[in-house]
Amino acid sequence: STGEQSVKVVLLGDSGVGKSSLALRFVTNEFKPYSESTIGASFMSKSIRIPVSPSSSLDDKSTQQERSIGLKIWDTAGQEKYRSLAPMYYRGAQVAILVYDITVPASFVALKEWALELKHNALPDLELVICGNKSDLEQFRRVDRAVGEQYAQEMDAVYVETSAKDGEGVADMFRGVAMRVPMM
Ligand code: GTP
Ligand code: MG
Repeated sequence: STGEQSVKVVLLGDSGVGKSSLALRFVTNEFKPYSESTIGASFMSKSIRIPVSPSSSLDDKSTQQERSIGLKIWDTAGQEKYRSLAPMYYRGAQVAILVYDITVPASFVALKEWALELKHNALPDLELVICGNKSDLEQFRRVDRAVGEQYAQEMDAVYVETSAKDGEGVADMFRGVAMRVPMM
């Protein structure tokens, strides 16, 4: 098909885990060391091209078909006072990226609450991504990767680790999101 398919993605998680930083890194390839806490929510979008079918070594690059996906990213505010707004943003979303900070165990606990809330209130076929952000701070890590992976497995979610600061894993995460959304 020629038209662009839109995919609604929502970022959820505690204040300070790096949701806005992940969106900014993906959309503009920037990073702000003193990012301001989001008020209400913010919106960003980016179109990317992905292969129609998973590529194999036999594919001839020149005939490999691509499709365009418009990622519509809702970056929610993590502060408690905005919590009641979240359903407006996750309702109707095809993908939810639940973000925690690998150096802050409380942010992982909060993520589990989000996951349960989504299971009860969001679309039944919502794709869940569990994202351990700030992988550049490995020396201060306080949530083991295996713990995150285990929980993701229980929730039937994808697990990724990212660094909005150095960019590691960020584009792959959003590309992966786009690739898993069924073609319409
Ligand atoms: P709220 O908008 O309050 O919900 O927070 P948020 O989740 O959007 O966090 P934000 O992106 O504003 O980042 C919070 C702080 O963490 C900022 O100082 C960022 O610069 C920093 N930060 C974000 N991502 C990373 C990262 O991957 N590594 C490091 N070292 N710092 C990060
Ligand atoms: Mg923010």
